[in-house]
Amino acid sequence: MLRPSLDSLTEGRAVGQSPARLDGRDKVTGRALYLDDLTFPGQVFGRTVRSTVPHARLLGVRFDPAFDWSGITRVTAADIQGDNVVQLIADDQPFLARDVIRHAEEPVALLACADRERLEAALAHVFVDVEPLPPVLDPLRSEVVFKQYLIDHAASGLAEAFARADRVVEGTYLVRHQEQMYIEPNAVCAVPREDGGMTLHGSMQCPFYVHRALQRLLRVGEQQISVLQTVTGGGFGGKEEYPSMVAGHAALLARKSGRPVKMVYRRDEDVAATTKRHPAVMRHRTAVQRDGTLLACEIDVVMDGGAYVTLSPVVASRGVLHAAGAYRWPHARIACRVVQTNTPPNGAFRGFGVPQTIFAVEAQIEKIARELQLDPLEVRRRNALELGDETPTGQKLLWSVSARECLDAVAERSGYAEKRAAFARENAAPGARRKRGIGISLALHGAGFTGAGEAKLKARAGVELTPDGARVLSISTDIGQGTLTVFAQMAADALGLPVPAIEIAESDTSRMPDSGPTVASRTLMVVGGTIAKAAQALSRTLCSFAAEVHGAVAGDVLCENGVFIARGRSLAAFGEIARRWLAERGPLRVVEQYVHPQGIEFDEVSYRGAAYPCYGWSATAVELSVDADTAEVRLDHVVTACDVGKAVHPILAEGQIEGGTVQALGYALLEEVIWKDGRILNTRMQNYLIPTAVDVPHVETILVENPYPHGPYGAKGIGELPMDGPAPAVTAALLHATSALVCELPATPERILRAIDAAKAGR
Ligand code: MOS
Repeated sequence: MLRPSLDSLTEGRAVGQSPARLDGRDKVTGRALYLDDLTFPGQVFGRTVRSTVPHARLLGVRFDPAFDWSGITRVTAADIQGDNVVQLIADDQPFLARDVIRHAEEPVALLACADRERLEAALAHVFVDVEPLPPVLDPLRSEVVFKQYLIDHAASGLAEAFARADRVVEGTYLVRHQEQMYIEPNAVCAVPREDGGMTLHGSMQCPFYVHRALQRLLRVGEQQISVLQTVTGGGFGGKEEYPSMVAGHAALLARKSGRPVKMVYRRDEDVAATTKRHPAVMRHRTAVQRDGTLLACEIDVVMDGGAYVTLSPVVASRGVLHAAGAYRWPHARIACRVVQTNTPPNGAFRGFGVPQTIFAVEAQIEKIARELQLDPLEVRRRNALELGDETPTGQKLLWSVSARECLDAVAERSGYAEKRAAFARENAAPGARRKRGIGISLALHGAGFTGAGEAKLKARAGVELTPDGARVLSISTDIGQGTLTVFAQMAADALGLPVPAIEIAESDTSRMPDSGPTVASRTLMVVGGTIAKAAQALSRTLCSFAAEVHGAVAGDVLCENGVFIARGRSLAAFGEIARRWLAERGPLRVVEQYVHPQGIEFDEVSYRGAAYPCYGWSATAVELSVDADTAEVRLDHVVTACDVGKAVHPILAEGQIEGGTVQALGYALLEEVIWKDGRILNTRMQNYLIPTAVDVPHVETILVENPYPHGPYGAKGIGELPMDGPAPAVTAALLHATSALVCELPATPERILRAIDAAKAGR
């Protein structure tokens, strides 16, 4: 039996419970201050002048001589003294375009002014002179490949497997952009400092990304940049890389004007200019036995990276690593390339490549079941990965595999078998006005960074003693998901303290250890575990001190609910010992470094090995009905089972799962970016539709807890997993209802009707 290696962590009073979230009261009462609520002395406002064309030679930027420019700060690429490059993976993206425009909305110049109305007026007096070039807007026509990958899993036997297969099934699947639509737009304030440096306050996921980017842009030392996260109204990946751009712009204006510069994007600007989920075209060819056993797959994925590399190589990597789904494949050949087009760069969005590739493989499973006249749930159960199986990279799954368990849980809870039969009967009845359907999908999601990411980063986090408890030290941000609360719970239990005795330090790069970016479903599992370890170490130190002070044996002392106890005898309250330590010995701070589990290794050249230390698993059942004439879809019932290892805070865990599921249902049915000549037409919440409370039914969640032995309390990632499965569950249910498989997202009424027509025509 595998035991958690962090098994000295015992569930105390907090972990597994659902205490009130630390930031909850301030948020619901309106006391929480977001960036735009803050006023910085002497502040001015910044705005960005952007390209209106998707591809062009940039001839120059002219400022209308007839306009009164007094009191307005103007910045172009010529003002940049440091590197005009947004630091990320490749050095290709400028803060301000120099001589080529590569996408519409590309920043070209910056303006700042104390008076917001004059600032808006000034924007119309900046002329961007361009010589248009033909844009590439179709990824399949792009000749610029940012990155490609190949997973070759016993592919030498591939041809033979296809030759002996009872059936070869082919399918092509298409997904488009999705906007993160966080409720708070991008917002940053740059405050210039006496030492030539800059302090940045802003809404963001990854303060150290901004820190690194700004050092290069301003050409200053690391001590001269401080980045502080303000209360953040959602990110969903959309505030992983883009805030570096906004912060850079604000800093350029602040440096030139010598004043704090606040930049808060308008909604339309945020939607038009910032990152989206990568569109993808995915081709599947599957060799399968008559009984539904999967023999081999060939998968080809093309992702649209947009104009600059940004995070595309990592998104495509995660996408290709999940492209074969949660199934056992004796042979697989999976190729992926991410290419350049002339649209704003696509980037991080919850799921990070996986919602795309899971949609395709799950739709393909539906197609296979359809062609073999098998129940798709049975095809999934038959082929689902189990403990000891290998993934296409040759990773042997050693722990915490719950594909079957999740499938069975949602099948039972949703009444799948009975509804499958009943709806088929109803739908066949003549004149049925609404066709009903139920479908189930299966997904997995690698927790933490891909490959050697964690081993390279060596995340650090810790705790320090306060007079009444402890303060958690990390740079990991709470962007709405509940980080502050789960960190406090884990620290509280490790220290034997109640949750209110724990504070969370502000995310400030000048004072906090680098616990890495808040991405990749890594925060609770990687950073939380490191914090728990540090809290245990702090606890040991204080227990010895309490023993020393009170004449007890160090090994006998423990802290329980805020009181040091030795063999049943109460020694002192935690605060008493803490204050005495602080008075006599000074500050006490413990920072630990994350240690990646041994033997979890991945070869980034051959794409062989353990791509992730563990996976989250999920199954989702969607029950819906479709209007026979208009193809309007009504979601009737949604059940999702997610294996998160351990629900440290069950209410927050359910909240994450419900939220992700709703976001995925939007991806499935509603959300579509409308383009014209490389620009987005629907840049507002009125015309880019996301689901509201009236569009989705209550999402029933089933928390599956199959512990990951190297995670704190067995916890694995949770944030992204619920985004992966719902879309293919929707199209599976649509197939059941209409006998037509929609192979493109979103499944709008128009696409459903086209799929029905095509199915009738036998195509
Ligand atoms: Mo996240 S999509 O890994 O910022």
